[in-house]
Amino acid sequence: MRVLGIETSCDETGLALYDSERGLLSHALFSQIAVHAEYGGVVPELASRDHVRKLLPLIRQVMAEAETSPEQIDAVAYTAGPGLIGALMVGASVGRSLAYGWGIPALGIHHMEGHLLAPMLEDNPPEFPFIALLVSGGHTQLVQVRGIGEYRLLGESLDDAAGEAFDKAAKMLDLDYPGGPHIAKLAERGRAGRFTFPRPMVDRPGLDFSFSGLKTYTLNTVAEHAQADGLPDEQTCADIAHAFQEAVVGTLVIKCRRALEQTGQKTLVIAGGVSANTRLREELEAALAKIGARVFYARNEFCTDNGAMIAYAGCQRLLAGQTEPLAVNVRARWPL
Ligand code: KG4
Ligand code: ZN
Repeated sequence: MRVLGIETSCDETGLALYDSERGLLSHALFSQIAVHAEYGGVVPELASRDHVRKLLPLIRQVMAEAETSPEQIDAVAYTAGPGLIGALMVGASVGRSLAYGWGIPALGIHHMEGHLLAPMLEDNPPEFPFIALLVSGGHTQLVQVRGIGEYRLLGESLDDAAGEAFDKAAKMLDLDYPGGPHIAKLAERGRAGRFTFPRPMVDRPGLDFSFSGLKTYTLNTVAEHAQADGLPDEQTCADIAHAFQEAVVGTLVIKCRRALEQTGQKTLVIAGGVSANTRLREELEAALAKIGARVFYARNEFCTDNGAMIAYAGCQRLLAGQTEPLAVNVRARWPL
């Protein structure tokens, strides 16, 4: 079974061909970061238009790289939500039209299911069942995973997502969007112990998260140390980035460990853009080793949005016998 995957939920145009026998055959990604840079965030209409421009050339590219003709493709999988509605519509319309023209099924995939399964694309993938921490720009969720399509939400953020918190803190420090990698880089030069930021909700039972208080704390700390140009000096910015990252990572680690202990599971999967964070990986590895558990994650390029995870999720859904009516249907909001 060979599946073409299309991801257009936000600001990356991602394409891939996944083969159930041979694994990932090809993948391509076009990031719109430069398109949105001057606005400090993603502009939905610009995102949709750029997906229109990039989608067909990238589909040709992945098919050529994998030496795959339309007759060799068994299905098209596209991200049906959650995400920006216009951007989703571009991928869904192209995906469904191709499938109709080629006479094969098309499947709308949940973006977060794509993220959740991305670590399966690696050598030595995790085995079901496991606990998944989904940490992206739009979501922070702990999910109990029994198998494909068997997901139970254990906890989630009551306000900002972890990635969103990274992006907002980055903006306060005048760093570019998306802010996660920039905060992480600046934090390397930060000194431990200069600031200690609060770890929100860790002393309360339960598995929900909240990051908006941490955002306010960061804003106040920046304002307190601001100089004439509105920013603290370079070293102070690095110290703030360090303290902020340690607080987010510390909170995520505590909740992951709690989820594993409460469910008796020994396998944790982290997925979504923030799972590319090196400190999060290090701290989870150390904390989980103490309780005999293991953490799995995808290579960095498959932590953030990509087509490979959608092709993979589509392939697994098809192997499980799932089909779908032909109407184009996308959702800006969609619980997993
Ligand atoms: O999964 P993703 O590509 O898109 C969504 O579905 O939202 O995640 C993007 C988010 C952004 O908020 C970005 O700042 C964050 O992931 N991110 C990181 C890192 N790389 C990306 N956050 C922390 N550390 C990183 N290394
Ligand atoms: Zn995503």
